[in-house]
Amino acid sequence: MLGRLFQATTRSFLNGSRSFSHTNVLFNGEYEWKDPKSDDEIVNITYITRDGTHKKIRGKVGDNAMYLAHRYDIEVEGACEASLACCTCHVYVDEEYFDKIPEPKEEEEDMLDLAPVLKPNSRLSCQIILKKDLEGMTLTLPRITRNFYVDGHVPEPH
Ligand code: FES
Repeated sequence: MLGRLFQATTRSFLNGSRSFSHTNVLFNGEYEWKDPKSDDEIVNITYITRDGTHKKIRGKVGDNAMYLAHRYDIEVEGACEASLACCTCHVYVDEEYFDKIPEPKEEEEDMLDLAPVLKPNSRLSCQIILKKDLEGMTLTLPRITRNFYVDGHVPEPH
């Protein structure tokens, strides 16, 4: 299944003469809010929704911008649960903050190429991880998104 993120917590144990290992799995959709430990961790951002509403939300260092939006009921679809297999989490990043976000991976660029209404400041919100210097950033939702798995995409056989 797409959309799984494997947490690097592996426990090994011995059972008789055979060795087994067990891996804890963290599913992407299983975002769990944890309160910030101090004010130094808080990152305030604003989402501008499709109807133009400015929603100021409070996150913290390390939060994924898409899952944070979900926590505040902001309509960012996120069809593939951050596995870089869709472009439904497309947002426009404040130009002032755009260069503060690490360069997109090739897979993100490939998905952005499929996004309608692409702009130079387009990014996938599931790939934006909050850090302190993103304090005050605004992310704007595009007028439309395209879920190509639903909107006519025919997968090629492997
Ligand atoms: S949720 Fe699919 S790429 Fe972000």
